[in-house]
Amino acid sequence: MPNPNSVLSYSAMEHDDPRNGDSTHNLDHASKKLRMTRYISESDIREEFSHHQPGIARINNGSFGSCPGSVLSAQREWQLRFLQQPDDFYSNTLRDGILRSRTVIKDLINADHVDEVSLVDNATTAAAIVLQQIGRGFAEGRFAKNDTVVMLHCAFQAVKKSIQAYVSRAGGSVVEVQLPFPVDSDEEIIAEFRKGLQRGKADGRKIRLAIIDHITSMPCVVMPVRELVRICREEDVERVFVDAAHAIGSVKVDVKDIGADFYVSNFHKWCFCPPAVAFLYCRVSGPPNDVHHPVVSHEYGNGLPIESAWIGTRDYSSQLVVPSALEFVSRFEGGLEGIMKRNHEEVVKMGKMLAESWGTILGSPPEMCAAMIMVGLPSRLCIKSNEDASRLRSHLRASYGVEVPLHYQTPKDGENVARDKDGLITGYARISHQVYNSIEDYFKFRDAINQLIEDKRICKILSVE
Ligand SMILES: Cc1ncc(COP(=O)(O)O)c(C=O)c1O
Repeated sequence: MPNPNSVLSYSAMEHDDPRNGDSTHNLDHASKKLRMTRYISESDIREEFSHHQPGIARINNGSFGSCPGSVLSAQREWQLRFLQQPDDFYSNTLRDGILRSRTVIKDLINADHVDEVSLVDNATTAAAIVLQQIGRGFAEGRFAKNDTVVMLHCAFQAVKKSIQAYVSRAGGSVVEVQLPFPVDSDEEIIAEFRKGLQRGKADGRKIRLAIIDHITSMPCVVMPVRELVRICREEDVERVFVDAAHAIGSVKVDVKDIGADFYVSNFHKWCFCPPAVAFLYCRVSGPPNDVHHPVVSHEYGNGLPIESAWIGTRDYSSQLVVPSALEFVSRFEGGLEGIMKRNHEEVVKMGKMLAESWGTILGSPPEMCAAMIMVGLPSRLCIKSNEDASRLRSHLRASYGVEVPLHYQTPKDGENVARDKDGLITGYARISHQVYNSIEDYFKFRDAINQLIEDKRICKILSVE
């Protein structure tokens, strides 16, 4: 929700006395201070996101993020600076601008050195960088055939395809760890993960890479990532890659504390950057890396941060506006931490409200979610496959103006399958909360579902659309 505690602080003005000198100067100074201490108001927030299509309950910040108008303006300025004098921009501006972004990110994520931080387009590109390196280990005969990569079965599909393309084709084998869902505790996840590592090491194989999501995409759960990385170290896993596409801006990120070799997060999801920009952290104190950008250009061989800063002629503006996005964040009470806290509290509140209205459950306890949470859908919606979930999603968009991703959870024998009064809960909605959302967005979703389940023909209607 827009910050309910927006305040204007006049303290700066009270302490400035025009009699102390030039009154114009002091007034300027005072109004500057006033601006600095005035938190963003609800109407400012509405204005910043006024380009969003009206009438849509957009409760899916998780998929594509969002970018406020002031950051879009900053981006436009960078684009114009390039177009006005491209040669000068390329020679004298671009590299410094990217270094500035990498430096603020280094501080934000507690990396040791700016050389550990590269800017890439997105988590998909970062996964290609890491998996190509692992693939080369197999292709060049440094890894034994059938050495393994361990990952979650619900790892992001694009990342799974990268494993297929770069690792499986080169002779590596893959072990998938089931994420228990609905899930009640970190311990359930840790137990499954330990089993997965044992399978990965069976028959004397070596685990060359473990991929751990910081926040899984679907269903969404915040993983005990620090603990899982520690277990990987105990079990002699060679390298650990944390796919934290959703993390920066929705949970605290401290790469040193997490301790992975590689860690990627998108700035365009929860940190107000335009698409597309992500950082890939590569720990320098780990085993030596031979990572390269998949697009080879002039800078090949000069280190990943420099390779990534020029991958041919293109628009680099989204990488250059990272400081502007953080400036936007600083207008909120508590900065990024304040935003994360409020988004978490609101999404939990909204999730509980929906689950109560529909007589269902949350997919995980609140402490296992950040700014997204899974809410069980009424069993009367008859979601029996991924296709059913996808049809209902389209129906909600087209007929109700609600944008929300839905998940089909296959009920498995012997597992803790959730129920409502009419049957098994097999469908879940992943709701997000970002600063532009209001309670009406969630009411609209609630009412749409309540209206749908009132219709006795609902299963038929949704299955033929
Ligand atoms: C866990 C996870 N990994 C990777 C990605 C891919 O992100 P992008 O499309 O920005 O590359 C996503 C996107 O939602 C994701 O949720």
